[in-house]
Amino acid sequence: MQEVLPEGGVVRKLWIGETAKYREHVLRLDPESRRNRFAGGVSDDFVRSYVDMTTGLDAVVHGFFVGGMMRGAAELRPLGARFARQAEAAISVEKPWQSHGVGSALLRRTLLAARNRGFRLLHMACLADNRRMQQLARKFDAELTFDFESVVGEVESSRPTPLSLMREMMSDGHGFTTAMLDLQTRMLRA
Ligand SMILES: CC(C)(COP(=O)(O)OP(=O)(O)OC[C@H]1O[C@@H](n2cnc3c(N)ncnc32)[C@H](O)[C@@H]1OP(=O)(O)O)[C@@H](O)C(=O)NCCC(=O)NCCS
Repeated sequence: MQEVLPEGGVVRKLWIGETAKYREHVLRLDPESRRNRFAGGVSDDFVRSYVDMTTGLDAVVHGFFVGGMMRGAAELRPLGARFARQAEAAISVEKPWQSHGVGSALLRRTLLAARNRGFRLLHMACLADNRRMQQLARKFDAELTFDFESVVGEVESSRPTPLSLMREMMSDGHGFTTAMLDLQTRMLRA
């Protein structure tokens, strides 16, 4: 299923070599969104190191792209062998694109990726006053528990099925095609 997203934007996986787009997106977040994304205030240097580290790990990053610029991101990171079947998820959307369904589209794709990788438990570091993220998580059928004191929310993700694997493959195909068309259009305009 493809959502109608603002300004004809698309959600697709980040490709190798696109780390700079991700870094620039996170650096563009307004102070409140950045604080909410990292569950506290962080410096530009922290953001740069964080993005470099994340893209070097076994993370699945989906981006929301408008005209080749990354305006939103969702990350899914395995917690490692000691915490099998558990991953951390985090989402960010730049302010002008918030409240237009982008966060929902990113979370939907991240939950699908989690399910297809066999993750049963997703941790989401979420400040207690971040009502929007909590409402967003509640929109999904998954069972949800928030621990407001430790500011961590957890979402159970369901098992992979042939249909869920196919849906992820089809979404990737759509993202690739749209990105190629977008690139061609911009090259023709130049
Ligand atoms: C949290 C965040 C990812 C949500 O993204 P978004 O694109 O605004 O989300 P959506 O438009 O899909 O809205 C999701 C739900 O949030 C709620 N919501 C949206 N806009 C809202 C607003 N202005 N006020 C309160 N709730 C709002 C609604 O319940 C909405 O669902 P609905 O449209 O079906 O009613 C985005 O606000 C963001 O990047 N915030 C800063 C970073 C952050 O907090 N990250 C989460 C830490 S993991």
